[in-house]
Amino acid sequence: MDVKQEPWRPDSWRRRPVRQMPAYPDAAKLAEVEARLGRYPPLVFAGEARRLRAALAQAVDGHAFVLQGGDCAESFADFNANMIRDTFRVLLQMAVVLTFGARVPVVKLGRMAGQFAKPRSSETETVAGVSLPSYRGDMINGPDFNETARVPDPARMETGYFQSAGTLNLLRAFASGGYADLHQVHRWNLDFAAKSPLADRYQDLAGRIDETLGFMAACGMTSATTPQIRETDFYTSHEALLLPYEQALTRVDSTTGDWYACSAHFLWIGDRTRQPDGAHVEFLRGVRNPIGIKVGPTTSTEDLLRLIETLNPDAVPGRITLISRMGAERVAAKLPELIRAVRRAGAPVVWLCDPMHGNTISTAAKLKTRSFDAILAEVRGFFDVHAAEGTFAGGVHVEMTGQNVTECVGGAHRLTEADLADRYETFCDPRLNAGQSLELAFLLAEELKARRVGHELPVLAAQ
Ligand code: PEP
Ligand code: CO
Repeated sequence: MDVKQEPWRPDSWRRRPVRQMPAYPDAAKLAEVEARLGRYPPLVFAGEARRLRAALAQAVDGHAFVLQGGDCAESFADFNANMIRDTFRVLLQMAVVLTFGARVPVVKLGRMAGQFAKPRSSETETVAGVSLPSYRGDMINGPDFNETARVPDPARMETGYFQSAGTLNLLRAFASGGYADLHQVHRWNLDFAAKSPLADRYQDLAGRIDETLGFMAACGMTSATTPQIRETDFYTSHEALLLPYEQALTRVDSTTGDWYACSAHFLWIGDRTRQPDGAHVEFLRGVRNPIGIKVGPTTSTEDLLRLIETLNPDAVPGRITLISRMGAERVAAKLPELIRAVRRAGAPVVWLCDPMHGNTISTAAKLKTRSFDAILAEVRGFFDVHAAEGTFAGGVHVEMTGQNVTECVGGAHRLTEADLADRYETFCDPRLNAGQSLELAFLLAEELKARRVGHELPVLAAQ
């Protein structure tokens, strides 16, 4: 019998082969934590996930651009208001650069408030001849290199839940409580970019936004009359890796009777857990949130079409976002075939470019890094392929932080491998720092503007 015919339940993933799952030594403790999490309030409301799905549907045919970004792995040690504010602020800056520069609405999606569980390529990590189980993200085990820290502890799921709740609370306050008001665009820049080569460029843009807001105010549109000026929609996302946690936070929406994963608005399936018959796909099949699928160089067209059919049999626009992470060298060769297959199948998907995960390299000093040039090259390659295929580059997915870290080489500050040791703070993959993120946004805005010219002509002609 085809297992797919069996009805979906929040726990039906348990009958499927599962990868990347921690082996908890204390089953009783795990069951207790799961039971408690199952009683805690949901972190998001189903109506918000539906609203995001509708916003993403706009990006299917180029009427919106998606900006998804944040840490590779959030950490318990770095949980404080400044961290959250700084990442949020850079995402806002990037969004405003894209909105104003390219005249496109931006869907803002943080890799925040729940991005705690990491898939690993290797089961073990070896340092100076000592091998220990790999660190799998703070919600599973600890980053310190000792035996005790690396034992998976279910209590970490609960800590992760409360940290997500605290983060989300602050994000909601920032998004609707005045911090995101467009009159604040100058202030978002105050600390870091004042010293950056991009400062003038950003200040110039902020000045033009001020002028526009002045004009709009004279026409009667102010923060008081127009909520879109005063507040913004900001959504949360993470990889749906740790299924016991996700299951415990899965709830029926009382208004529709549908199941939703209530740990975040948007969940994605990673490149290592996207087996069509696997547990992660089974879990996400039954929840109605918008979901992402990482699409890497080893993704076959056959698997991709099967995944789309399994996860979105009704072809709901905005339900599926495909996150391409091919690597700068491979995007031109690998992506067209997949785009064509998806188009032939008539599947309404958003295509995002993750220019980070296919471009990770190791330095002589054994630090993981990524070059800003390779990141840009992949983004440009992605835009080129979509232009050639007549499809839409729907957005980007980046690992970034609001801190002034030194983890990726290149960019306007021309960070070199020798600089990496200065502020290498990531718990997992190297992130773009605040300046590099803003620089990427300016370059994206230029690309979008350049490629949109033809798109705009019919509108002008119709006036
Ligand atoms: C990630 O987004 O952090 C990640 C692990 O990506 P991927 O599954 O594409 O390797
Ligand atoms: Co990563």
